[in-house]
Amino acid sequence: MSELFRKRFLRSLMNENPAMSAAIASAPIRCLKRSFVFCETCARFSFWYDCDLMRWFTKMLPSVKRLLRESDELQSRIAEMQEELNAFYRPPLPPVELQLRVGGAGNFTDVGEAFFSLFKNVTGLKPYEGVLDVGCGCGRIATPLIGYLKQGWYCGFDVDPVSIEWCKANITTRLRNFQFDLVDLKNTYYNPQGQVDPAAFCFPYPDDHFDFAFLASVFTHTLPAITRNYLSELRRVLRPGGRLMMTYFLINAESWECVSSGRSPHPFQALDDYYVVDPNKPETTIGYDEAQITEWHESAGLPIRKPVHYGSWAGRSSCQSYQDIVIADRPA
Ligand SMILES: C[S@@+](CC[C@H](N)C(=O)[O-])C[C@H]1O[C@@H](n2cnc3c(N)ncnc32)[C@H](O)[C@@H]1O
Repeated sequence: MSELFRKRFLRSLMNENPAMSAAIASAPIRCLKRSFVFCETCARFSFWYDCDLMRWFTKMLPSVKRLLRESDELQSRIAEMQEELNAFYRPPLPPVELQLRVGGAGNFTDVGEAFFSLFKNVTGLKPYEGVLDVGCGCGRIATPLIGYLKQGWYCGFDVDPVSIEWCKANITTRLRNFQFDLVDLKNTYYNPQGQVDPAAFCFPYPDDHFDFAFLASVFTHTLPAITRNYLSELRRVLRPGGRLMMTYFLINAESWECVSSGRSPHPFQALDDYYVVDPNKPETTIGYDEAQITEWHESAGLPIRKPVHYGSWAGRSSCQSYQDIVIADRPA
């Protein structure tokens, strides 16, 4: 090391770091002031008092080790605090009565986690993205997103006033980037008195707004005109390159065979161009012909990704979900 370089190096250390400046001030004075000397311990000429420097470093070592240990402790304390923070933000479970409205009280958390894992692993949802949850109910799928969408945001809307009230009181009060909207849409099963026609409803969000949208068990309760309007609205509010995930009861040769042979708990029957379980209350459970859904997606500009993830509803085994899961894209 040249003398000039050594001096510059020491000066920069002392200028930039007051702690280092103090440490250098306590270092063996000769090694800082002299450059080419005869070191008696090493028995040779050297640019440094090597042995003095080594002794100085050895003296400093315990302090350096302690600093590193403390930084480890600090990091694990930060991880603990993060966990405590997540627990604080996590809302309580909704009352059983609300859980039942979205299809079951025994597996509320598991269903939410299963969807969340598909969002991350299949559609590549990122923590900074904007998410739309159509028919969000009482936040079954919003809940696992809470610890994840840190820099992103979430909007959910539903026709059920009690569920939306619960979500606002228990989720939005904790996290301002989670918004819930009530829309008085008519649904003969969920909101028979609703004043707004969902077949002509314009989602209350601007164009190209969301990166990702999903509908969990919603198109299993909507009539064809509503489903088609919602596909067109989803295309509008998703940004180019945005993704979409939704569930259906898809009728194809295989599932129809299961339904006809009584292997499915849903005894669908054809009604016009769709399938229902109860013709007097069609919106209780609705199924669609798979080829027709594919065509509607194409004409809405939201082509379906292959493969479709078929669910176990029709009696199939080894499925990831109960209803059929479809992923679609708004092309970039
Ligand atoms: C089976 S629940 C699923 C709720 C939620 N997606 C979940 O998985 O927990 C169906 C939901 O769709 C809502 N819904 C019914 N018709 C709707 C419509 N036209 N637009 C938006 N939501 C609707 C219902 O109020 C209900 O909360």
